[in-house]
Amino acid sequence: MAEILHDQDIDLVFETDTYHGGATLFFASIMYQYRYNASTKNVRPFKIVTMDMTEDARAFINRYPLLASYITFIPHGSLTEAAKSIVNRTFIEMKPTNVFISLDGDHYAESVYDELVYYQNYLPNIGNYILVQDTRLSNKWHTMFCAESKLGGPCNGPQEAVNWFLKNEDQGRFISDPGKEYLFSTHHNGWLKKIAVYISLSSLCVYENDTFRC
Ligand SMILES: C[S@@+](CC[C@H](N)C(=O)[O-])C[C@H]1O[C@@H](n2cnc3c(N)ncnc32)[C@H](O)[C@@H]1O
Repeated sequence: MAEILHDQDIDLVFETDTYHGGATLFFASIMYQYRYNASTKNVRPFKIVTMDMTEDARAFINRYPLLASYITFIPHGSLTEAAKSIVNRTFIEMKPTNVFISLDGDHYAESVYDELVYYQNYLPNIGNYILVQDTRLSNKWHTMFCAESKLGGPCNGPQEAVNWFLKNEDQGRFISDPGKEYLFSTHHNGWLKKIAVYISLSSLCVYENDTFRC
């Protein structure tokens, strides 16, 4: 994650969900470093928008006032109207150059799929990533996530959401990038890279070898 943040000079992160803000503060500390200019002592704008169903995270985040000022915490579920309106407003106001999205909330298939369908719209640039975390929960021995089969199965976890999204929703705009998995990853097939954009309802442009093909 740190590599993507740095290499793409990410200026906006959306994270579902926060828990106690461990990853949120990690994102903020990395982003602060590459957005800070030591010569001018200026920090180029950046933000992390993160959410969870309870207020619990706020106290943890506020222990770090320097980083907290770059974090918008939303005490609501990731697909509530309250969360969506802040996500949308932040995106429109900031006009970010590069966005990274981490989906790490309710790991059940339908919930992750619904998040993918909604949050895919907030990647402004070819090459940006949505990370679907913990796809390995969709393993046949996992008692919580394989007790039933959803979205084409065999389990009911994040991997089913990714598979269903790539098969039925993405229409050629994303690929799963195994290059981000290195030697071991709990996010197997979860690094979804944006490789194309729609320019109209009937036309898809693909970015390949430094050129657009429409
Ligand atoms: C795996 S933890 C997040 C960990 C955090 N991203 C980190 O790296 O420290 C999952 C969180 O998702 C939240 N959650 C689960 N279902 C949710 C839902 N439907 N809406 C919002 N939050 C949810 C839980 O409250 C929990 O805090």
